[in-house]
Amino acid sequence: MTEPAICRSIAALRDTLKPARMADERIAMVPTMGALHEGHLSLVRRARQEADRVVVSIFVNPTQFAPTEDFDAYPRTEERDVELLRTLGVEAVFAPSVGEMYPAGFATGVSVGGPSVGLESDFRPHFFNGVAVVVTKLLLAALPDVAVFGEKDYQQLCVVRRMALDLNLPTRIVGAETVREADGLAMSSRNVYLSPDERRTAALIQTVLTEAATAIGDGGDAGAILAAGRERLAAAGFRVDYLELRDADTLAAVTAGTASRRLLVAAWLGRTRLIDNIAV
Ligand code: PAF
Repeated sequence: MTEPAICRSIAALRDTLKPARMADERIAMVPTMGALHEGHLSLVRRARQEADRVVVSIFVNPTQFAPTEDFDAYPRTEERDVELLRTLGVEAVFAPSVGEMYPAGFATGVSVGGPSVGLESDFRPHFFNGVAVVVTKLLLAALPDVAVFGEKDYQQLCVVRRMALDLNLPTRIVGAETVREADGLAMSSRNVYLSPDERRTAALIQTVLTEAATAIGDGGDAGAILAAGRERLAAAGFRVDYLELRDADTLAAVTAGTASRRLLVAAWLGRTRLIDNIAV
């Protein structure tokens, strides 16, 4: 068991990481919004494989929520989160206040084009500007050698990769596989919002993805397969934002020359929005 240092300020985080940096040890960061579940813990284990020291950030970032979204309701379970991280040998938890991250007068944005166009942005236009600014700030605060992000938020992973490349951030971005419940539902902090009935229905999202990916991979007509997938989800009670096939690296529309493809979905079940994706 390691007692993680709880750092509330960027200065405290930098002080905590200084000895590791002086000793030329490798530092990995896992940015999170807390409410940790097995999916996050798998990211931490991956970070541990990639580096000597691991820092996890816990920060519910207001700039990636629209005023109509669940910023206030988002689960906040810091004590339990730190307890879980203690068992994984995490050196530091960076848990700043909103004021530390966004001091009065904050007036800077980070805007990424390319992979942020479409999909999530069509339904949550504020989202990637919020993610880009906070991830830039988190990476500049910790200056990790590696940062680990879940493939569950596949578009976010592509956007962060593009941004790190474009801004020459000195951090290698690693994507880690999605962790699933026994019935295939991708783990998410928002799954707690699902009623028992919705929770049973929610697993269909992965069934539809898997079957559509296989059918498209076998050479089927993607347009027809995706339309059938959307209908199947709607018939089960989902309100589908998108079910789309994209270039797996750029998230651009698929063409005859596309080397690898990714199928991405976002759909509402009651008041819970679920996202998932799969390689094709
Ligand atoms: O994926 C998340 O939990 C968040 O979007 C992130 C990357 C921690 C930024 O707030």
